[in-house]
Amino acid sequence: MKRKIPIAEPEIGNEELTNVIEAVKSGWISSKGDFILDFEEKFSKYFGANFGISTFNGTTALHLALEALDVKTGDEVIVPTLTFIASANVVKYTGAKPVFVDSHPDYWCIDPTKIEEKITKKTKAIIPVHLYGHPCDMDAISKIAKKFDLYIVEDCAEAHGAEYKGKKVGSFGIINCFSFYGNKIITTGEGGMCITNDAELAEKMRMLRDHGMSSQKKYWHDVIGFNYRMTNLQAAIGVAQLEKLDKFVEKKRRIARIYNQSLKDVEGLELPPEMAWAKSVYWMYSILVTNNFGMNRDHIINKLVNSEIDSRPFFYPIHTMPPYKENTRYPIAEKISKEGLNLPSSVKLTDDDLERIVAVLHSCI
Ligand SMILES: Cc1ncc(COP(=O)(O)O)c(C=O)c1O
Repeated sequence: MKRKIPIAEPEIGNEELTNVIEAVKSGWISSKGDFILDFEEKFSKYFGANFGISTFNGTTALHLALEALDVKTGDEVIVPTLTFIASANVVKYTGAKPVFVDSHPDYWCIDPTKIEEKITKKTKAIIPVHLYGHPCDMDAISKIAKKFDLYIVEDCAEAHGAEYKGKKVGSFGIINCFSFYGNKIITTGEGGMCITNDAELAEKMRMLRDHGMSSQKKYWHDVIGFNYRMTNLQAAIGVAQLEKLDKFVEKKRRIARIYNQSLKDVEGLELPPEMAWAKSVYWMYSILVTNNFGMNRDHIINKLVNSEIDSRPFFYPIHTMPPYKENTRYPIAEKISKEGLNLPSSVKLTDDDLERIVAVLHSCI
């Protein structure tokens, strides 16, 4: 019987287990404990940031960031339409309106040349999403943010370790947010983190994360906050995973090189971009199945399923789904979404697994 190849699979080893055992034995299994501070400190340092504020997941990290920046009803926030829905939902949670922007045809992230036309007096922030591990064009986005006095909150959920012009993503916005969901580049099961250099915002996020409790006066609440705290058990895993981040990125890039090499001559397949200014971490190795390929994307997914290989279609553009339905067209995002296919990308993939996946794709021609 053939091994079922998952789209993503965490690599959890003895280091994670040792830390979790230590946390369990210590009795600190909720959101207090040494691993939390250790993880926040090491993670923020890895990205050259002064402060790390851990959260229960990536969605709560993004929401916390927007709340700390006082994004609220009446405001607008620029978001790419082609992303996971959490990037837009968090804007809605604050009462503000997500305003969608089309994708760049060459690298699939938000197209900076289409941002300015969406800016109004109400615009408060831009959320660039480094989609599937490829960075956004941060110089172009930063220029617009500066011109219109907007906050940048990077959504780095899919791009731990990716670089823009040699600088890690997560170091361009005023607050930058990560996810540690089980399929992410490093994981804590569920988990998230905001990083920032701004001491006041860090303090505010810590306060809001803990029900808005005053740091001076226990059980005194000046504002309505949230319980968005990470547990010591999550952080125990995170500390061990962080040690492996560079290795995981290298593995992801090796997987991408093998796929690229094996698929480069296949007519009708567009391979994942890596712009000259980018270092992608290929969170998901992603291809476009164009009309010139002999079979459409959904048929390929079925063929892969029949061979015990998991894959995923790209996200639906958010403006096409019921909560955010718009009549405006975003042609690039719509095309990419229709043709896009995520192939298995786990750091646990073997060379045999890769050969099997590529063989099925070749058999579809
Ligand atoms: C781009 C993007 N933003 C936000 C999230 C939300 O993260 P989480 O699932 O940890 O809440 C995810 C992932 O799941 C994501 O892919």
